[in-house]
Amino acid sequence: MTCRILLLIILTSCVSGSFVVNVTQTCYQAEENHNITLEWTFTTKPDRSTKMLNILCYLITGHELSVLYHVHEGVELSESQDEKFSGRVQSDKDALREGRIRLQLSRLSVDDSGRYLCQVNTDYGFSSATSTLSIDRAESPKEKRWKKFKTAFVIVQVAFAAAVAAKMVL
Ligand SMILES: *[C@@H]1O[C@H](CO)[C@@H](O)[C@H](O)[C@H]1NC(C)=O
Ligand SMILES: *[C@@H]1O[C@H](CO)[C@@H](O)[C@H](O)[C@H]1NC(C)=O
Repeated sequence: MTCRILLLIILTSCVSGSFVVNVTQTCYQAEENHNITLEWTFTTKPDRSTKMLNILCYLITGHELSVLYHVHEGVELSESQDEKFSGRVQSDKDALREGRIRLQLSRLSVDDSGRYLCQVNTDYGFSSATSTLSIDRAESPKEKRWKKFKTAFVIVQVAFAAAVAAKMVL
Protein backbone atom coordinates (compact mmCIF):
# COMPACT_ATOMS: atom_id res chain seq x y z
CA MET A 1 0.00 0.00 0.00
CA THR A 2 2.70 2.46 1.10
CA CYS A 3 4.67 1.41 -1.94
CA ARG A 4 1.79 2.17 -4.25
CA ILE A 5 1.27 5.64 -2.74
CA LEU A 6 4.97 6.35 -3.04
CA LEU A 7 4.92 5.27 -6.66
CA LEU A 8 1.94 7.53 -7.30
CA ILE A 9 3.78 10.50 -5.75
CA ILE A 10 6.86 9.82 -7.87
CA LEU A 11 4.75 9.49 -11.03
CA THR A 12 2.85 12.71 -10.33
CA SER A 13 6.02 14.66 -9.68
CA CYS A 14 7.53 13.25 -12.86
CA VAL A 15 4.53 14.31 -14.94
CA SER A 16 4.35 17.82 -13.47
CA GLY A 17 8.14 18.16 -13.61
CA SER A 18 8.44 17.38 -17.31
CA PHE A 19 6.33 20.29 -18.47
CA VAL A 20 6.79 23.82 -17.14
CA VAL A 21 5.62 27.32 -17.87
CA ASN A 22 7.95 30.07 -16.63
CA VAL A 23 7.73 33.81 -16.55
CA THR A 24 10.83 35.67 -17.75
CA GLN A 25 9.92 38.48 -15.35
CA THR A 26 7.67 38.16 -12.29
CA CYS A 27 6.89 41.85 -12.19
CA TYR A 28 6.57 44.54 -14.87
CA GLN A 29 6.18 48.26 -14.45
CA ALA A 30 5.29 50.79 -17.14
CA GLU A 31 3.72 54.16 -17.69
CA GLU A 32 0.33 54.87 -19.18
CA ASN A 33 0.22 55.11 -23.02
CA HIS A 34 3.50 53.21 -23.37
CA ASN A 35 3.94 49.63 -24.65
CA ILE A 36 5.17 46.56 -22.86
CA THR A 37 6.10 43.01 -23.87
CA LEU A 38 5.06 40.28 -21.47
CA GLU A 39 6.85 36.97 -21.88
CA TRP A 40 6.35 33.38 -20.78
CA THR A 41 8.31 30.31 -21.77
CA PHE A 42 7.12 26.73 -21.88
CA THR A 43 8.68 23.33 -22.46
CA THR A 44 8.73 22.31 -26.13
CA LYS A 45 9.23 18.92 -27.71
CA PRO A 46 10.83 18.95 -31.17
CA ASP A 47 8.70 16.14 -32.60
CA ARG A 48 5.32 17.61 -31.57
CA SER A 49 3.05 19.57 -33.86
CA THR A 50 1.53 22.85 -32.68
CA LYS A 51 -1.92 21.38 -33.45
CA MET A 52 -2.08 20.18 -29.85
CA LEU A 53 -1.09 23.55 -28.40
CA ASN A 54 -3.66 25.41 -26.31
CA ILE A 55 -2.90 28.67 -24.53
CA LEU A 56 -5.09 30.91 -22.46
CA CYS A 57 -3.70 34.12 -20.97
CA TYR A 58 -5.87 36.41 -18.92
CA LEU A 59 -5.80 39.35 -16.57
CA ILE A 60 -7.08 38.87 -13.04
CA THR A 61 -8.29 41.98 -11.24
CA GLY A 62 -10.41 41.50 -8.14
CA HIS A 63 -13.11 39.00 -9.18
CA GLU A 64 -12.85 39.75 -12.88
CA LEU A 65 -11.08 37.78 -15.59
CA SER A 66 -10.31 39.35 -18.97
CA VAL A 67 -8.91 37.22 -21.78
CA LEU A 68 -5.73 38.68 -23.23
CA TYR A 69 -4.66 35.90 -25.59
CA HIS A 70 -6.12 32.59 -26.72
CA VAL A 71 -4.65 29.84 -28.84
CA HIS A 72 -6.85 26.83 -29.57
CA GLU A 73 -5.26 23.78 -31.20
CA GLY A 74 -2.44 25.93 -32.54
CA VAL A 75 -4.69 28.67 -33.91
CA GLU A 76 -4.97 32.16 -32.41
CA LEU A 77 -8.56 33.08 -31.63
CA SER A 78 -9.00 36.83 -31.46
CA GLU A 79 -12.76 36.43 -30.89
CA SER A 80 -12.16 35.22 -27.34
CA GLN A 81 -10.16 38.31 -26.49
CA ASP A 82 -11.71 40.78 -24.06
CA GLU A 83 -12.92 44.03 -25.60
CA LYS A 84 -10.52 46.06 -23.46
CA PHE A 85 -7.52 44.40 -25.20
CA SER A 86 -8.99 44.53 -28.69
CA GLY A 87 -6.41 45.70 -31.25
CA ARG A 88 -3.76 46.23 -28.56
CA VAL A 89 -2.12 42.80 -28.41
CA GLN A 90 0.59 41.75 -30.82
CA SER A 91 1.86 38.18 -30.54
CA ASP A 92 5.18 36.91 -31.86
CA LYS A 93 4.47 33.77 -33.90
CA ASP A 94 8.11 32.85 -34.48
CA ALA A 95 8.79 33.00 -30.75
CA LEU A 96 5.74 30.83 -30.08
CA ARG A 97 7.23 27.99 -32.15
CA GLU A 98 10.29 28.13 -29.88
CA GLY A 99 8.15 27.93 -26.75
CA ARG A 100 8.03 31.62 -25.97
CA ILE A 101 4.76 33.48 -25.56
CA ARG A 102 5.66 37.08 -26.35
CA LEU A 103 2.75 39.49 -26.15
CA GLN A 104 3.19 43.17 -26.83
CA LEU A 105 0.48 45.21 -25.18
CA SER A 106 0.25 48.74 -26.52
CA ARG A 107 -1.46 51.95 -25.41
CA LEU A 108 -1.30 50.90 -21.77
CA SER A 109 -3.88 52.21 -19.35
CA VAL A 110 -4.05 52.10 -15.55
CA ASP A 111 -6.83 49.49 -15.93
CA ASP A 112 -4.29 47.05 -17.43
CA SER A 113 -2.68 46.69 -13.99
CA GLY A 114 -3.08 43.31 -12.34
CA ARG A 115 -1.98 39.70 -12.42
CA TYR A 116 -1.54 38.05 -15.79
CA LEU A 117 -1.86 34.29 -15.89
CA CYS A 118 -0.94 32.09 -18.85
CA GLN A 119 -2.09 28.47 -18.96
CA VAL A 120 -0.47 26.18 -21.50
CA ASN A 121 -1.99 22.84 -22.35
CA THR A 122 -0.30 20.38 -24.70
CA ASP A 123 -0.50 16.65 -25.33
CA TYR A 124 2.60 16.27 -23.15
CA GLY A 125 1.60 18.46 -20.19
CA PHE A 126 -0.26 21.29 -18.57
CA SER A 127 1.07 24.19 -16.51
CA SER A 128 0.64 27.88 -15.81
CA ALA A 129 2.55 30.91 -14.55
CA THR A 130 1.64 34.37 -13.34
CA SER A 131 3.25 37.76 -13.74
CA THR A 132 2.25 41.13 -12.28
CA LEU A 133 1.92 44.34 -14.26
CA SER A 134 1.58 47.74 -12.69
CA ILE A 135 0.89 50.84 -14.73
CA ASP A 136 1.72 54.30 -13.42
CA ARG A 137 -0.52 57.13 -14.42
CA ALA A 138 1.23 59.62 -16.68
CA GLU A 139 1.27 63.20 -15.42
CA SER A 140 -0.32 65.82 -17.63
CA PRO A 141 1.78 68.94 -18.47
CA LYS A 142 -0.56 70.91 -16.18
CA GLU A 143 0.16 68.56 -13.27
CA LYS A 144 3.91 68.81 -13.96
CA ARG A 145 3.79 72.63 -13.86
CA TRP A 146 1.76 72.55 -10.63
CA LYS A 147 4.30 70.19 -9.04
CA LYS A 148 7.18 72.55 -9.97
CA PHE A 149 5.27 75.49 -8.56
CA LYS A 150 4.59 73.65 -5.28
CA THR A 151 8.30 72.74 -4.91
CA ALA A 152 9.33 76.35 -5.55
CA PHE A 153 6.77 77.51 -3.01
CA VAL A 154 8.12 75.14 -0.33
CA ILE A 155 11.69 76.38 -0.99
CA VAL A 156 10.58 79.99 -0.55
CA GLN A 157 8.78 79.11 2.69
CA VAL A 158 11.83 77.31 4.09
CA ALA A 159 14.10 80.21 3.11
CA PHE A 160 11.72 82.67 4.75
CA ALA A 161 11.54 80.61 7.97
CA ALA A 162 15.34 80.44 8.01
CA ALA A 163 15.60 84.20 7.56
CA VAL A 164 13.15 84.79 10.41
CA ALA A 165 15.04 82.37 12.65
CA ALA A 166 18.35 84.08 11.81
CA LYS A 167 16.85 87.47 12.70
CA MET A 168 15.61 86.15 16.05
CA VAL A 169 19.07 84.84 16.91
CA LEU A 170 20.73 88.16 16.07
C1 LIG B 1 4.00 51.14 -29.31
O1 LIG B 1 3.75 50.22 -30.34
C2 LIG B 1 3.21 50.79 -31.51
C3 LIG B 1 2.84 49.67 -32.45
O2 LIG B 1 3.64 48.56 -32.30
C4 LIG B 1 4.24 51.77 -32.08
O3 LIG B 1 3.73 52.35 -33.24
C5 LIG B 1 4.54 52.83 -31.05
O4 LIG B 1 5.56 53.68 -31.52
C6 LIG B 1 4.98 52.20 -29.75
N1 LIG B 1 5.07 53.23 -28.72
C7 LIG B 1 6.03 53.29 -27.80
C8 LIG B 1 5.93 54.38 -26.81
O5 LIG B 1 6.94 52.46 -27.74
C1 LIG C 1 11.99 27.22 -16.31
O1 LIG C 1 12.81 27.65 -15.22
C2 LIG C 1 13.67 26.65 -14.72
C3 LIG C 1 14.37 27.22 -13.50
O2 LIG C 1 14.91 28.50 -13.73
C4 LIG C 1 14.64 26.24 -15.82
O3 LIG C 1 15.50 25.23 -15.34
C5 LIG C 1 13.86 25.72 -17.00
O4 LIG C 1 14.73 25.43 -18.07
C6 LIG C 1 12.84 26.75 -17.48
N1 LIG C 1 12.03 26.15 -18.52
C7 LIG C 1 11.51 26.84 -19.52
C8 LIG C 1 10.71 26.07 -20.49
O5 LIG C 1 11.65 28.05 -19.63
